This record gives sequence, structure tokens and C-alpha cells, in this order.
Amino acid sequence: RAAGDPHRPAFHFVAPAGWLNDPNGLTQRDGWYHLFYQYNPYAAIHDRIHWGHARSTDLMHWEHLPIALTPGNGPDADGCWSGVLVDDGGVPTLVYSGRSDGIELPCVATGSADLVEWTTAAANPVIPAPPSDLDIVAFRDHCVWREPEYNGAPGRWRQIIGAGIRGVGGTALLYESDDLRSWQYVGPLLVGDADAQARTAPDWTGTMWECVELFRVDSEENATDVLVFSAWDDGVTHHPLYWTGDYRGDQFEPRALHRLDLGGRFFYAPQSMQDAAGRRLMFGWMQEGRTDAAAVAAGWSGVMSLPRVVSAGADGALHLAPAPEVDALRTELLFDGDASSPKLGALDGDQLDLELVVILAPGGSVELTVRAAPDGQEQTVYRLRRVGGEAEFSLDRSRSSLDETTDARALSGRIPLDGDTVRLRVLVDHSALEAFANGVPLAARVYPTRPDANRIAVTLNDAQGSIRAWRVASTRN
Ligand code: FRU
Repeated sequence: RAAGDPHRPAFHFVAPAGWLNDPNGLTQRDGWYHLFYQYNPYAAIHDRIHWGHARSTDLMHWEHLPIALTPGNGPDADGCWSGVLVDDGGVPTLVYSGRSDGIELPCVATGSADLVEWTTAAANPVIPAPPSDLDIVAFRDHCVWREPEYNGAPGRWRQIIGAGIRGVGGTALLYESDDLRSWQYVGPLLVGDADAQARTAPDWTGTMWECVELFRVDSEENATDVLVFSAWDDGVTHHPLYWTGDYRGDQFEPRALHRLDLGGRFFYAPQSMQDAAGRRLMFGWMQEGRTDAAAVAAGWSGVMSLPRVVSAGADGALHLAPAPEVDALRTELLFDGDASSPKLGALDGDQLDLELVVILAPGGSVELTVRAAPDGQEQTVYRLRRVGGEAEFSLDRSRSSLDETTDARALSGRIPLDGDTVRLRVLVDHSALEAFANGVPLAARVYPTRPDANRIAVTLNDAQGSIRAWRVASTRN
């Protein structure tokens, strides 16, 4: 069933069948990139989560490997939830959240050199309970690192665990260890204020932080520490956000709060890794915009985003771009020229890579339509509209599908201008859409019903532009 579904992406990673959510355990080892993920192989529902596993040399063609973690009899009896992979003096070690009796607790597992076989530790859970001095909403998901060595002594392990403090807001709780088995609680690295913004704000920080991650980005123009989290509240996955700031001692001193992806829940629970080339690569979970029943009927749910290279932008925020490996999937160059050319109307495809460069005069705007039926009954429209020194970037999905049960809400936010220029990259992969405008991403899902809803179109108002369009190869059969 899954294979015959026209909404199933062809160059994004998807599970063989069943349910996929967060990326986990990202690493590069012996020349292979490894991607683990939250996985229910039995049905397209979030239930008794396993760790799926795949590897790739080029980040695009993935080989499915045996399931890495299966719920056991102990603290992970109801699921092996999100976590990371670290190298413990040559021993691959997973730190993840075991779920049983309705709660999650930190667990570890050690693996074979090829990362295929995993053994969970008898000592699990390695932290028996959340800190007793806090009234905790939830406690799960891990980011683990080793502090730099100091005066010849190896640095200690540190980790942050996502949590929420009831009546206060989301938080990342800091722990320390010498052996990944025995952990001392240090304190909250940072505490959010759930009342700082309206609950409907696109940068509301939520009552709990899922999938916390701390890393540093450095470029010639800018360097910053970054704390990423996914804002969660009462079972609802809101959106991924990040703080820039300074990680100092046992604290994170925040500078500014940003949205990580203007698609919000369509790029949720991201995790990143640094590869051998020193690049920071991030993946996120592109959840469904169709009903649970539709996903169950299709036999699969959840798409992994393409890998994104994360760097420090000149404006102090992060800059995100699809990894250059994505470019290698381009096959036929369909068009290269003026974006106002009538010839664009003849192009179509549901696997496309579009690169639009536009100069937006004050008051100018541009529309890029994808997945459009020739009569326009179905269409999905990206809009860029200049607003002073910035642009508003939005995705209109109101006519994306004649199926009224699909999510058709507009997605939008502000992006920086580069002079008067916006570089918009759009990757169309059946139901999975990823766009990047001047380094700001917008992920989304759309489900056109008509087989001819494959046209593209560009409309320029007080703007000039050029566009290149390629067909993109499938990476699975
Ligand atoms: C985020 C999340 C994590 C949890 C996992 C469960 O999407 O809810 O907090 O570890 O998914 O699958």
C-alpha cells in the first residue's frame, strides 16, 4: 500500500512502512552516515516506538538496516524514545528515553562497531527519577557531549534532558557523569517562561521542551552557541525554536529567540550532528498534514527532512540550506532563464528542484506556484512580499487539495533581505515540500488529489527574477 501512494516522497527518507517520527543517534562512522529514527514498524500510529536504522555514504541513498532498539521488559517496555549516539572511548553508546508506566526515564545501550547490534544496560534506567525539587511536566530526550579536557584530565560527560516545570515553562536540565551510567544533577541550563508570549504566537516556547540540543556554530561573520528545542504543550507538538546565546559554566545566557522553520510542526524534533568535514547537518521530522485515519489507510506516516547545513548567518541568526548532496540528484535541467517567461507554463513535475533569484523593489512581491492543476483548482503558492527592509515569506495551502480533511493552514514569517535580493529554493517531493528563502526554511506537507496537479508558475509584481528548474531523481525503488 505504502509504495503505491502518490503522496509518498521519492527522494526524502521514509521508513519501509509504518510510523516514523524524530531523527535520533545521528553520526558518521567509518565513512557511513547513520540515521536512527522513532519507528513503529507495525502500523502508521505512534505506539511502542522502536529505533529504526539506516545508513548512507551520500546522505541521499539510504540502506535500511535491522531495527536497532526494540521495547524490552523493563523501563523501555512501552517504547524506546528519542536520544543520541556517543562514542564512549570506542564503544558506541546510545542514550535514550525508555518509556514504561506512562513515564520516560534515561536509559543506555551499547553497540557493535558497525552499529547494527545493540544491548541495553542492565542498570537501566540510569537516572531513576526527575529532580525531586521540581514539579516536572515531562522529562525526556537527550543531548550528550564531553567537556574539553582540562589540565590533562579528560572532560566529564554532560547531558541536557528536555522537561517542563509546571506553572513556569519548558527547560533543559543539566547533568554530569564520568561514565554515562551514574549521573549527578547540576540544575536547569535555562528555563522558559510560558507566559512570555500568547499561546498562539509562532514563537511561543510551550510548557515543555522536547528534543533539546546544544551546539556551537562558527563562521567568519558570526559565532554563537545555540539551544534548540521543540515547544510542546499538553500533547500538542507546536514548533521548533532556538535561542542564540552563550553557554557558560552551568548556564545558557540567551541572546535572542528565533523560529527554526516557518513551517512549525512540519519540521519538528530536529537533531543535528557534526560530520567528518566539520559541517553541522540537521534533520527534522516532517509530520503528516492528513488525518490519522488517512495515514493508517496509506500504511505509512512521517517523512524525514533532507539534511540541512546549519551555519551562523551574518544577521546573528542561523542560516539553513539543503546539503549540497541534494544537488547531485538533479537530472534534467528543465528551464534556466527569465522568471517571467511564458515557457514556464509548460513545465510540470512532482519531483522538482527550483531556484528562484528575485530582486524585490520596495512594495514588490513574487509568487511561485507548485503542484497546480492546469485549471488552478488545486495549487500551492509561495509568496514573498517586501515589507520595509525585510520580506514576508508565506505558503498558501488553502487550495492545495480538494480533500478538505487535509491541513490547509497558511504558514508564514519574516525573512531577511540580501540587499534587494531573495534567493528562494524549493524542493518538491510529492507531499513533502521544503523551501529556503535567504537561509530561512519553511517545511510543509500538501496532498493534491488530482494526478495533473503538477504545474508550476511564477508571477512577479514590481520584481525581476530568474529561475532554474530541474527534475530530481528518486533515491528508492
Ligand atoms: C518528539 C517526541 C519526543 C519523544 C519522541 C517519542 O516528537 O515526542 O519528545 O522522545 O517524540 O516518539
